[in-house]
This record gives sequence, structure tokens and C-alpha cells, in this order.
Amino acid sequence: MTETSLLFKNVTLGNITLNNRIGVAPMARVSATFEGVATNQMVSYYTSFARGGFGLIITEAIYTDDKYSQGYFNNPGLINDEQTQAWKKIVDSVHQAGAKIFAQIMHAGALSQGNRFIQETIGPSAVQPKGKQMELYEGKGLYRIPREATHQELSEVINGFVNTAKRAKTAGFDGVEIHGANGYLLDQFLTDYTNKRTDKYGGSTKSRVRLLVEVSEAVREAVGEHFTIGIRISQGKVNNYNHKWAGKEKDAEIIFGQLGHAGLDFIHVTEYEAWQPAFPKDEATILTSSGLDNSDLSLAALAKKYGKVCVIANGHLEDPIKAREIIENREADIITLGKGALANHDWVNKVKKGEPLAEFNEEKVLRPNARIKDFEI
Ligand SMILES: Cc1cc2nc3c(=O)[nH]c(=O)nc-3n(C[C@H](O)[C@H](O)[C@H](O)COP(=O)(O)O)c2cc1C
Repeated sequence: MTETSLLFKNVTLGNITLNNRIGVAPMARVSATFEGVATNQMVSYYTSFARGGFGLIITEAIYTDDKYSQGYFNNPGLINDEQTQAWKKIVDSVHQAGAKIFAQIMHAGALSQGNRFIQETIGPSAVQPKGKQMELYEGKGLYRIPREATHQELSEVINGFVNTAKRAKTAGFDGVEIHGANGYLLDQFLTDYTNKRTDKYGGSTKSRVRLLVEVSEAVREAVGEHFTIGIRISQGKVNNYNHKWAGKEKDAEIIFGQLGHAGLDFIHVTEYEAWQPAFPKDEATILTSSGLDNSDLSLAALAKKYGKVCVIANGHLEDPIKAREIIENREADIITLGKGALANHDWVNKVKKGEPLAEFNEEKVLRPNARIKDFEI
């Protein structure tokens, strides 16, 4: 692929400019200390992506409080000075290597499977999560049944996101990504079968997206106008890959429309294959459609259509042709790679030079757990 491809052109995101449109997707690597402090190994790991040409790195999910937010043991946090200083080392090193870096901030809610602070979990409602805890992060057996979070606890959840975003700014991060995807707390509120509340946070799609909007607005207010913030959104979840929004495009309109007015600079959408139509066509649409209609739109295109902010797309975009197409079709402004980046920390440099890419090898990189391996760096 030639260097003139739009993929390699710089782009403005919030108040920063990226060297190119290719980012590393957030990936938990359970490699911090038990106390949630980032390590020197993590400095080398994140810096290697910057050296490999990625314009943006989004960190693994970082917990936001010393209560219910931590998802797994050895998950890093950003809630005290020691953790902030440790992240600063990573941020400085990534900057020296020429890339920008965002902190992904997450509350695990009912999917917490390893929290050193508190044993029980909270969620929108007392609904046991589907599936089993992830062995990748050393979980075992069924998820616990969460306790329904009180309004006081939801204020604390919002404060956790706010305080962590402020610490991210202090540590020198170029922005934050609020984790609203993949089945974690904010997505539990968005999802009809995990949110059975009858208060202002439950019921209609607009009410279920309310907490995500309140978190986004509170973070924006706390960090000021000139710090880049965004949110990650998905339909699928780590414990239910195939979930689709029941209201289809109508839901997308409400969700992205609401988030588009919440002070965010970007929406990062993740799907199994980013370019696929977001929703299966129903028969009525097939019978009446002529050519490309709205039901063909990918989740990225829907985020752009209704959110009207910068869109980052993720999901099996490691094939450079697919990555280029989704950008050139204007469905997304930036793409991120997860497994493709793990297999090729220098994906950008390789593609620019036309060198072959390595296949992702799960046995090699992620087994027996997701921890960073020395040979990876
Ligand atoms: C080891 C691993 C850890 C992940 N951890 C996170 C995470 O902390 N936060 C998040 O939003 N997504 C996480 N993901 C999902 C990725 O960001 C990405 O959405 C997924 O790998 C699909 O993209 P890909 O097809 O490019 O790999 C993780 C994925 C992997 C493989």
C-alpha cells in the first residue's frame, strides 16, 4: 500500500492531531502489580507500538475507584498518586516515540471477576450475567449475581470516571476513552436484558443510555474544553458476542444521537467485522429495498450519521485493504487493531513498506493467560 493512502494521512481528533489514522485497540493484559501499578514491562510494551508506527494507542481498561470498578486482578488503576506516576512513565515514553496515547477508563460492574477491594458486584439490576468468567483473565465459573446499584452508588460511579479522567490529564495522556462497550457496567445499563430498572436509568433506550450521557457530560465538565474525550460502544459483549440492539437503526439513532450531544469528541465502535451491516435485514426491508439502503450501514457509519462526531472503527481490520476501505468510504475517521496489533507491533511500518504481516497466534500471545510475554516487546 502506498504511503499516500488516506490511512497514513494525519487527522485531527478533539484538540490533538494524529500522525496517521491507525490506532491500537484497548487490550487488557493483566500485567500490572497486584496493587494496580503499571510496570516497566508495560512501558516497553506500549512504547513498542509507538515505535512500530501507530499514531494512537488506547490503553487497556483502567479501573476508576477503590470500590466496585476493578474487573480482574492485576488490572491497572488510575486512582492514586503511585498509579498516576507509573502511567506518566508510559505516557512520556510513548510520546518520545512519536505517538499519542489515550487512557481507557472502565467500571466492570457485574462482570467484575477479580477485585482486590470488594467481593460483591453491582449492576443496573440483580440479573446474573450470561456465560462464564473469562479464563483469559484467570476467572472461573459463573459470574456473581450483582446487587442493584443505588442512586448514591451511581453518583460514586460517575465521580470515579471523573477523578480518573482528571488523573489521566495529570499523567499527560492525550485523552480518555470511557468504556461504554463489551458488556461492562455502562453497557449493562444500555442493554435491555441486564437493565430492568424502573427509575430514570431504565426502560426506554433513551433512559438506558442516560448513565453513559451523564458520565460523558461529567467528564467533559471536569477536564475542560481542550482535552480529548470519547466513548466506546458495541452491541456484542464479552459474555454474549452476538447481541444486537432490539430497536435496530432506531436504537442507533437514539444512542448515538444522545452521545453526540454529550460533549464527546469521538465514538469508538467495535463489531466482530467492522464493515458488516450492523443489523440483519428483516424481510420487509429486503422486499422493498432497491440498492443500498440504511439497513446496510455498519455500526461505524451509523455512529457517524447520528453522532456527528469523529468515529473510530474496530473489528478485524488487520487486512490493510479492509482498513483502507472503511476510511476511504468515510464510514470512520480512524481504525484500531486489536489482535492484528498484538501480532504486529509494527503493523503500520510493515504496511507502509509492503512487508508481510504475521498472523495472530492465540496460543503464542494469549495462552495460558492474557499477560504480556517478554518476547512480545
Ligand atoms: C487480550 C485482549 C484484551 C482486550 N481487552 C479489552 C479492554 O480492556 N477494553 C476494550 O474495550 N476491549 C478489549 N478487547 C477488545 C479489543 O479492543 C478489540 O475490540 C477486539 O480484539 C476486536 O478487535 P480485533 O478484531 O482488531 O482484534 C480486548 C481484546 C483482546 C484480544
